[in-house]
Amino acid sequence: HPARPLDGVRVLLTAGPTREPLDPVRYLGNRSSGRMGYALAEALTALGARVTLVSGPTALTPPPLEQVVQVETALQMHAEVLARADACELFVGTAAVADYRPVDPAETKIKKERAALEIRLERNPDILAEVAARRPAPFTVGFAAETERVEHYARGKLVDKGLDMIAANRVGGPRGGFEREENALTVLWPDGQRDLPMMAKPRLARALAELIAERYLEHHAP
Ligand code: PMT
Repeated sequence: HPARPLDGVRVLLTAGPTREPLDPVRYLGNRSSGRMGYALAEALTALGARVTLVSGPTALTPPPLEQVVQVETALQMHAEVLARADACELFVGTAAVADYRPVDPAETKIKKERAALEIRLERNPDILAEVAARRPAPFTVGFAAETERVEHYARGKLVDKGLDMIAANRVGGPRGGFEREENALTVLWPDGQRDLPMMAKPRLARALAELIAERYLEHHAP
C-alpha cells in the first residue's frame, strides 16, 4: 500500500543521549534531547513500521510504539540493541552515543579535596558499526553530527561503517542540531544524496522517513 510502504517492517531505532557515570551522582553526557529520534520513530510508525525504540534519558514521553526500552549508558544501549539486531529489518541510529566512558566510576561521591581531578576515559563500542557488520545485516541508517565539513565526514562514516544511508546534520551552530526544535539534514547513500532544509523536527522526520522507505524498498526490490 503506497500510504504504508513499511507495512509490518520491524525497525530498531536509538534516540537521545547516553550518560556515562563518574560516581553515583555525576555523569558525562551530551545535549541530545531525543526530539529527532522520537519524531523519526513516530514518522516510521505512520508509514506502517513496527518500531522498537531504545532510548537514553530524555524529558519526552515516548509515542505509542511496538516497544520502548529505556537505557542510561552506552554499554546498556549496546547490549539492548545487539540483543534485538537480528530481529529487525531496518536499524536507525539517531542516538548521541558517548564515544568514551570513565574507566573506573567511583563507588562513592567524589570529594572536593584536590585542586584538580583527572578522569581517565576508555572507548565505548560503536553500536552502529557493529549492527552494520552483522551478516545478514539490517538495512542500516546512521546519523552524523558534525561542526564542520559535514558532507565530507558523513560520507566517510557511510563508507567506513558500511552503512546504507546516513543523515548528516550541522551541530553547535546557531540553528538546528542538538536540543533545538528544528533541524536540517543532508542525507547520503552510496549513489545519491538529498538535502532536507531547516524545518521543525516532526516534519523533517516525516521527510526522512519517506526517503528511508524509498531506499529500503529499492534495496529489497527483486
Ligand atoms: O536529540 P536531539 O536534541 O533532537 O538532537 C538530534 C541529534 C543532533 C542528536 C541527531 O540529529 C544526531 O545527529 N544524532 C547522532 C549524534 C551522534 O552521536 O553522531 P556521531 O557523528 O558522533 O555518530 C555517528 C553515528 O554513530 C550515529 O548514528 C550514532 O548513533 C552512532 N554511534 C556513535 C558512537 C557510538 N559509540 N555508537 C554509535 O552507534
